[in-house]
Amino acid sequence: MSDVLELVDVSVVREGRALVEQVSWSVKEGERWVILGPNGAGKTTLLNVASSYLFPSAGSARVLGEQLGRVDVFDLRPRIGIAGIALADKLPRSQTVLQTVLTAAYGMTASWREDYDEIDEQRARAFLDRLGMNAYLDRKFGTLSEGERKRTLIARAMMTDPELLLLDEPAAGLDLGGREDLVRRLGRLARDPFAPSMIMVTHHVEEIPPGFTHVLMIRQGKVLTAGPLDLELTSSNLSHCFGLPLVVEHNGNDRWTAQGLPLK
Ligand SMILES: Nc1ncnc2c1ncn2[C@@H]1O[C@H](COP(=O)(O)OP(=O)(O)OP(=O)(O)O)[C@@H](O)[C@H]1O
Ligand SMILES: [Mg+2]
Repeated sequence: MSDVLELVDVSVVREGRALVEQVSWSVKEGERWVILGPNGAGKTTLLNVASSYLFPSAGSARVLGEQLGRVDVFDLRPRIGIAGIALADKLPRSQTVLQTVLTAAYGMTASWREDYDEIDEQRARAFLDRLGMNAYLDRKFGTLSEGERKRTLIARAMMTDPELLLLDEPAAGLDLGGREDLVRRLGRLARDPFAPSMIMVTHHVEEIPPGFTHVLMIRQGKVLTAGPLDLELTSSNLSHCFGLPLVVEHNGNDRWTAQGLPLK
């Protein structure tokens, strides 16, 4: 299996401080990774490196077989789909849902051309349908609820037919029904052998979709553990990661839960 991502001793330093420090991590084709860690641990920073928007201060990063620094990022970026909070703020609020997804085909945040190919429109409609958004095609992006916006962003990220899909807290802000719906849809995607490799950042093990295979835990910029979920998502590792005693359970539906230990 070839490497989708290979970081060797990657550090990102800003204002004299390492946001991520000597991270070595490799993601192989077909793996679906979840990144867990407290606020400020460096999760989004790692995704920014993986998406080629951030260049490491030290170490080497290969993304989809290309060495950052030796590849034209404008060739690489269309091969990577990103859905994150930062992107939602950059998209025009007055654009319709369909336009918001369509503009991804051209790597733009704004809709500036009217002559989208029929085939692109069909693809945009199909992705929106897959995410349960077909009733919202003509709604303005700015009027969507948090959950509807999240689903639109994932459809948008799929539009370039990426080889790597990066999701930064896709379920944050969703109500219980919205979360369960999204986890189910991501689970379906995770088990689709033709779907891209996936890396998802989350704060909650309850949001790990069935079909995800690996976990990276990070704390204060450093990797605590990285490997198969079944081996590494343990009470001991998670407690260490979040700095308090936690009990992790894996239930029969391939879902996870974590709880703090009751006070004695
Ligand atoms: N450009 C920057 N300059 C200085 N510090 C930064 C910069 N960008 C991020 N940081 C800091 O780096 C640390 C890691 O940030 P990052 O966004 O990667 O954390 P995170 O794990 O995604 O956190 P959260 O769970 O809150 O989203 C934080 O302490 C943040 O304040
Ligand atoms: Mg973050």
